[in-house]
Amino acid sequence: MNKSFRWSCYYFLLLNMFLLHLTVRSQLTTDFYKSSCPNLTKIVRKEVIKAIMNEQRMAASLIRLHFHDCFVNGCDGSILLDGGDDFEKSAFPNINSVRGFDVIDTIKSSVESACSGVVSCADLVAIAARDSVLLSGGPSWSVLLGRRDGTISNGSLANVALPSPFDPLDTIVSKFTNAGLNLTDVVSLSGAHTIGRARCALFSNRLFNFSGTGSPDSTLDTTMLTDLQNLCPQTADGNTTAVLDRNSSDLFDNHYYKNLLNGKGLLSSDQILFSTDEANSTSKPIVQSYIDNSTLFFGDFVKSMIKMGNINPKTGSDGEIRKSCRVINS
Ligand code: HEM
Ligand SMILES: *[C@@H]1O[C@H](CO)[C@@H](O)[C@H](O)[C@H]1NC(C)=O
Ligand SMILES: *[C@@H]1O[C@H](CO)[C@@H](O)[C@H](O)[C@H]1NC(C)=O
Ligand SMILES: *[C@@H]1O[C@H](CO)[C@@H](O)[C@H](O)[C@H]1NC(C)=O
Ligand SMILES: *[C@@H]1O[C@H](CO)[C@@H](O)[C@H](O)[C@H]1NC(C)=O
Ligand SMILES: *[C@@H]1O[C@H](CO)[C@@H](O)[C@H](O)[C@H]1NC(C)=O
Ligand SMILES: *[C@@H]1O[C@H](CO)[C@@H](O)[C@H](O)[C@H]1NC(C)=O
Ligand SMILES: *[C@@H]1O[C@H](CO)[C@@H](O)[C@H](O)[C@H]1NC(C)=O
Ligand SMILES: *[C@@H]1O[C@H](CO)[C@@H](O)[C@H](O)[C@H]1NC(C)=O
Repeated sequence: MNKSFRWSCYYFLLLNMFLLHLTVRSQLTTDFYKSSCPNLTKIVRKEVIKAIMNEQRMAASLIRLHFHDCFVNGCDGSILLDGGDDFEKSAFPNINSVRGFDVIDTIKSSVESACSGVVSCADLVAIAARDSVLLSGGPSWSVLLGRRDGTISNGSLANVALPSPFDPLDTIVSKFTNAGLNLTDVVSLSGAHTIGRARCALFSNRLFNFSGTGSPDSTLDTTMLTDLQNLCPQTADGNTTAVLDRNSSDLFDNHYYKNLLNGKGLLSSDQILFSTDEANSTSKPIVQSYIDNSTLFFGDFVKSMIKMGNINPKTGSDGEIRKSCRVINS
């Protein structure tokens, strides 16, 4: 071996170690708080159990909170910030809709008493979402941690980045693609609608005059249609809620997909995963595979939740560890 070759090997090795160091620093890990807050997951679990015992629906609300946080500037707790009309909380998909802020405050104060100034609000939301899935009968996983909290809340971005129940399938898929997720993730994560509720205003477009046809959405099961027409009369304010999964509204299972097979998806954005021409060659085979195999659904759901939790995390010296989840540190 000649000398210059040995030297170049050495530099190559150094460069690799440097690059490895960079990537490791910018990645989330499951044991991020192992020494700085060893009891973290126990503390969060205890608070999530209390919250769900107080109100079962809170499990659903906490899962959705993580989703709506991650899709707007990454999972950085920006949805938790209180502020004006241009903050995420006031954006159309969130206002009078996203819930669980008080529960996150309670979790934060319990965690702060055990390990002050160490754990980000963004990570608390991610752990609470995992616990909510598990406590509703769904799968569990090790949550990647080490996210830091953002200092910007962008309401106008929330309006364009979050999917609407009135969006066609290609729009929903492109909103997921913009976040680094794909069609499989759209279908698996939509399975979160196996628990929780939605307001009439978000599906009443299907009940009387669908897309200007003068008739209800023909893909909606007729018994379910009658029930929903009675629940959501055209004269009402649209704030009444219906369960997303009529079969087992509090249980995290694959019945959401079985509902789609039977025309019992609640939102238009649910049923289009199965009942449109576009779905035939895209989402429908994935829905069918989750109907046939709930183990496959659980495994894919976990993979997609980890992927979603990894959207644009702030690490290193980016962002901050907020003292209160509702305000940035001064
Ligand atoms: C695919 C596009 C999606 C659309 C269009 C959508 C839309 C909606 C809408 C309109 C509601 C009812 C909101 C209200 O009544 O104010 C809702 C509720 C919910 N969403 Fe989604 N969603 C989508 C994906 C997801 C994902 C990816 C998750 C989580 C992984 C999720 C979890 C939930 C949960 C758990 C609820 C019930 C919340 C509660 O009861 O508080 N959704 N969704
Ligand atoms: C963790 O909790 C245990 C009791 O569950 C307690 O004995 C221990 O002191 C706690 N550790 C820290 C670092 O707070
Ligand atoms: C908020 O998002 C909008 C839409 O993507 C963008 O034009 C704007 O620059 C963002 N504002 C801030 C403060 O980041
Ligand atoms: C989506 O991404 C996952 C990996 O994250 C991959 O296994 C899956 O095949 C992809 N699905 C599609 C439809 O591209
Ligand atoms: C349904 O909506 C369309 C377009 O908005 C409207 O022209 C039509 O009159 C409506 N039909 C009924 C029966 O209300
Ligand atoms: C629906 O509820 C929200 C608050 O929960 C309220 O601000 C709004 O006025 C209600 N809508 C109607 C039409 O009453
Ligand atoms: C849910 O579906 C199962 C069959 O898959 C059925 O036996 C059960 O009665 C259904 N429960 C409700 C509340 O619809
Ligand atoms: C999609 O599948 C449905 C039901 O199998 C069928 O009636 C329809 O013609 C299909 N559409 C296309 C474009 O293949
Ligand atoms: C269901 O999916 C799991 C996970 O992918 C797989 O291991 C199993 O073989 C599947 N079961 C059947 C009956 O296909």
